[in-house]
Amino acid sequence: MTTAPIVTIERASKLYVTGTERIWVLRNVSLSIDRGDLMVIEGPSGSGKSTLLNLVSGLTRPTKGNITVEGRDLAKLDLDQLAILRRKRIGFVFQSPNLFPHLTALENVMLPSRGATEERGRELLEMVGLGARLANHPHQLSGGEQQRVAVARALINNPGIVLADEPTGSLDRKKTLEIMNLFRKINEKGSTFLVVSHDPVVASLGLKRVVIEDGRLVDEDD
Ligand SMILES: Nc1ncnc2c1ncn2[C@@H]1O[C@H](COP(=O)(O)OP(=O)(O)OP(=O)(O)O)[C@@H](O)[C@H]1O
Ligand SMILES: [Mg+2]
Repeated sequence: MTTAPIVTIERASKLYVTGTERIWVLRNVSLSIDRGDLMVIEGPSGSGKSTLLNLVSGLTRPTKGNITVEGRDLAKLDLDQLAILRRKRIGFVFQSPNLFPHLTALENVMLPSRGATEERGRELLEMVGLGARLANHPHQLSGGEQQRVAVARALINNPGIVLADEPTGSLDRKKTLEIMNLFRKINEKGSTFLVVSHDPVVASLGLKRVVIEDGRLVDEDD
């Protein structure tokens, strides 16, 4: 087993230029995520959280600095290679579950599968507490249940890391705790999570907590 970090971010900065405005959205961010981490980056709206996740998934290139994922330097990958990396090695959970309405829970989980068996899809839905809801369509599931389907879908290809951008942003307090407890349970089985959220309650449930303000990491305790 390698002990190398699964993700490294080294002195990453991101400049956006719109019209005459130049904004450094990320400034000199360095961070590494180890296998088995459940890290939450907490910060207010506009602090650069989504931009940071987009750097890790290769959707955005840094203006300065380096990113590696599972030892691969993202700067050396072309757009096709980045797309393959995302599909095979990264799971995504967003604020909205983004399920296909005409597909069942199980079919939604299987949709991005690259060779995973339906048995695996069933196991994942059982793990997220929806073993009895496999054949339900999204409109037959609550918002929290739909988000659980999205979590199972993110895991279908056994990704090296799950990136979650405000995964509880549409949920009430109780459902927020349920999703974070689910992440902890899945994390105990070995999956690595990088979660970003403005919500201190979400951050308090991470096993590592980092604060971002105005594009800079201001605090890290682990
Ligand atoms: N493509 C872009 N072009 C120009 N500016 C951008 C672009 N994407 C993001 N920004 C700016 O970068 C800053 C950080 O945006 P980002 O989406 O990373 O914040 P966030 O922390 O995820 O916020 P929220 O909690 O509201 O989702 C914002 O000021 C935003 O307006
Ligand atoms: Mg965001």
